[in-house]
Amino acid sequence: MSQATSVPPDQPTYWNEEGGQRWVSNIQRVERMIEPFLTRLVRHAAPQPGERVLDVGCGGGVTSAAFAGAVGPSGNVLGLDVSMVILAVARERYAAVANLSFALGDAATMPLDAGHFDLVSSRFGVMFFADPVAAFAKLRSALKPGGRLAFICWRALDENPWMADCVRAAFTVLPIPEPQPPTAPGPFAFADGARLRDILGQSGYTDISIEPHDQVLDLGSIDDAVTQMTRMGPAASAFAAASATDQAAVVTAVRAALKPHLSGGSVRMASATWLAGARRG
Ligand SMILES: C[S@@+](CC[C@H](N)C(=O)[O-])C[C@H]1O[C@@H](n2cnc3c(N)ncnc32)[C@H](O)[C@@H]1O
Repeated sequence: MSQATSVPPDQPTYWNEEGGQRWVSNIQRVERMIEPFLTRLVRHAAPQPGERVLDVGCGGGVTSAAFAGAVGPSGNVLGLDVSMVILAVARERYAAVANLSFALGDAATMPLDAGHFDLVSSRFGVMFFADPVAAFAKLRSALKPGGRLAFICWRALDENPWMADCVRAAFTVLPIPEPQPPTAPGPFAFADGARLRDILGQSGYTDISIEPHDQVLDLGSIDDAVTQMTRMGPAASAFAAASATDQAAVVTAVRAALKPHLSGGSVRMASATWLAGARRG
């Protein structure tokens, strides 16, 4: 599958342009699919009343709002995202939540108050850093001494058939993009748990834990699943650029890949993630 892992190299640009547009146009479907990770991440991160939380790559703000509820009125949450177009969704949704605010910026470079947060967390928002050691070190300095890092990220593409099967099907039609190194910034950059542990160690964290979490995903109806899986992931850019004829052929191929997993009106497929935890120390 190495040919299928190509992603645009400049992630902030990607998320402000085609990636951000596609995420927003697909946001209801994808948030529904990844909803089970919200519950799991909140349990893992264990936000406490009164805490200050930073939600990195907050997207449409669903996780930020959940953390805001958990920390209550004496705590507060900052949702941070590099994409203006995606953050606009979060701002509109949660304008009325008093202890939740949002900021536009690159978590790897934007100024953050030193020693301010009790918890830095993320659902699938920290795999896009060009220099992950520098970025996680920066996030560490925004934590109070003893503060926690807790996030969820994908394991390898090949361990995630909900994506891999669709990518494989799409690239039977679409031109296979230039291969990228498996550690290139992108959704599957932390496939290697040992490398992830090493990155967090080099960034200065202690008490590092990297636990596998397997979850069956509900991709909704077959029509929703096909729409979603042609608009996100490693084949999405090539699909968007393809002719109408090729797009129709991709839809047929992706539908055929998804159909064996249709039961009771929903496509249900396995996923594999890491639940990562660490402390500032
Ligand atoms: C896969 S989406 C996840 C969104 C959200 N956390 C959720 O679970 O719904 C990744 C998000 O990370 C954001 N992102 C990517 N790189 C970032 C960076 N360097 N700093 C801040 N946000 C970033 C993207 O704009 C996007 O909204």
